[in-house]
Amino acid sequence: MSNNEVIEKFFYPSSVAVVGASREPSKVGYQLLHNLIAKYRGKVYPINPKVDEILGIKAYPNVNSVPGTIDLAVISVPAPAVPTVVEECGLKGVKSVIIISAGFKELGTSEGIEFEKRIVSTAKRFGIRVIGPNCMGVYVPKVGLNTTFLNPERMDFPNHGNIAFISQSGAFGIAVLDWAAMRGIGISKFVSLGNKCDVDESDLLNYLVSDDDTQVITMYVEGVEKGREFAKSLRSVTTVKPVVILKAGRSEEGVRAIASHTGSLAGADVVYDVVFRQFGAIRAMGMDELFDIALSLSLQPPAKGMNVGILTVGGGSGVMATDAAVSLGLKVPKLSDTTVSKLRKVLLPIASPYNPVDVTGSARDEHLLQAVEILTRSGEVDIIIWIPYFMAPGISKELAKNFITLIKSINNELDTPIPIVGAATGGRHTAKLSTIIENEGIPMYPSVERAAKAAWALCKYGQWLRDNGTFEEYISKHMRSKATN
Ligand code: ACO
Repeated sequence: MSNNEVIEKFFYPSSVAVVGASREPSKVGYQLLHNLIAKYRGKVYPINPKVDEILGIKAYPNVNSVPGTIDLAVISVPAPAVPTVVEECGLKGVKSVIIISAGFKELGTSEGIEFEKRIVSTAKRFGIRVIGPNCMGVYVPKVGLNTTFLNPERMDFPNHGNIAFISQSGAFGIAVLDWAAMRGIGISKFVSLGNKCDVDESDLLNYLVSDDDTQVITMYVEGVEKGREFAKSLRSVTTVKPVVILKAGRSEEGVRAIASHTGSLAGADVVYDVVFRQFGAIRAMGMDELFDIALSLSLQPPAKGMNVGILTVGGGSGVMATDAAVSLGLKVPKLSDTTVSKLRKVLLPIASPYNPVDVTGSARDEHLLQAVEILTRSGEVDIIIWIPYFMAPGISKELAKNFITLIKSINNELDTPIPIVGAATGGRHTAKLSTIIENEGIPMYPSVERAAKAAWALCKYGQWLRDNGTFEEYISKHMRSKATN
């Protein structure tokens, strides 16, 4: 089996053994089995020497006594028992193993380090690939595969979507899944890597680059051990699909905290910065930013240049958006006389037809619609930040729908589509309308600064693709996938 074929078994196994499935509802091994059987429709084998049945499913004393083949083993027994279980998996012919158990390298004890070393050498001997130890495993909503052990009464899991999320931290990863479900962000694959004794970021990047379900790859990284391989993988992936990375441990104190979390060597933060830049990864500075950027890249095409058109119902927001865009290195160009006069013709006399184009609080739907059409067709801007105020009296509930229809039809006609992101600051009504718009493919952010950062990522990624000669290819693939969605 090729590397990618083995990795594929972590996401699409036909059968899963849960070693350490427990009878006790308060234990990890019980909840894990419970979550797994909730939606997964492949064969499930609970492994526990003390019982015949758990949650109504026949249990086996060890993997060897399972009658069929096992594509994936999920291990949740105390650390000292794990090396033997991995050996048993090897003898059974299992090639993909997830180790949920903690108590290894991350402890810094000689015993923990020794257990992990034994796992690695056994896995090598049998050609097993291992995710973990000290991890949450995987979540693949498309096939209902869930190897996490969190209580689903106290968290939600996101639906299928086109963003992959790889997290070195299990707890943070799970919290993000719960949050993504609330935010309506879909996930193609989630992987919690833990101590990374074997499978690491590079293995997953190399797999995800050709995963049709994944359009954007997001990562939470503390430290990368095999730097050269990582850089090589990044280089080959980022010209095909975007990789957005939240790298923790920016301070000396943060680096120290990492050492006691997953036992990783975090290294100098500046080195990561250089590698990310050199190999086209987009760095996010926090969780909101990670997914703000991922969302824009998953919904919109990258921009062909750095010129931002700002279309706003409120003057102040237009000014703030301009400041935010410029401070990120984007341009907010003056519009040509021709474009200004076209705008002047369709807008109210009190409107400002420059950039930002301020349609004012008296604007009606048609003003925003006509203005966005003039801007997108002007050839003077590469991306648009629109700032609707849904509470303005002339703005109807129909604006969202009509705006989206118009943008889609204009972009279908243009050689290079103009991406658009929105900023809608407000309360629950605004949030509701923003969700409707976002569901139709225009990302909406609760502040102009966040929208500007999302726009920046679309410009930055567009520039990376252009520099590497893959912009056109990416755009046509992106447009094809949007057309079929
Ligand atoms: N084969 C099969 N089953 C076994 C074996 C074995 N070799 N050994 C024990 N079992 C069974 C036990 O009988 C038990 O079942 P039972 O409750 O029905 O009797 C079950 O497996 C669990 O074994 P326990 O000894 O009861 O272990 P416990 O559940 O207390 O803890 C665990 C095991 C969960 C793996 C624990 O050691 C651990 O590592 N916890 C931390 C998990 C974690 O946090 N992982 C990282 C997540 S990522 C993050 O950042 C949070």
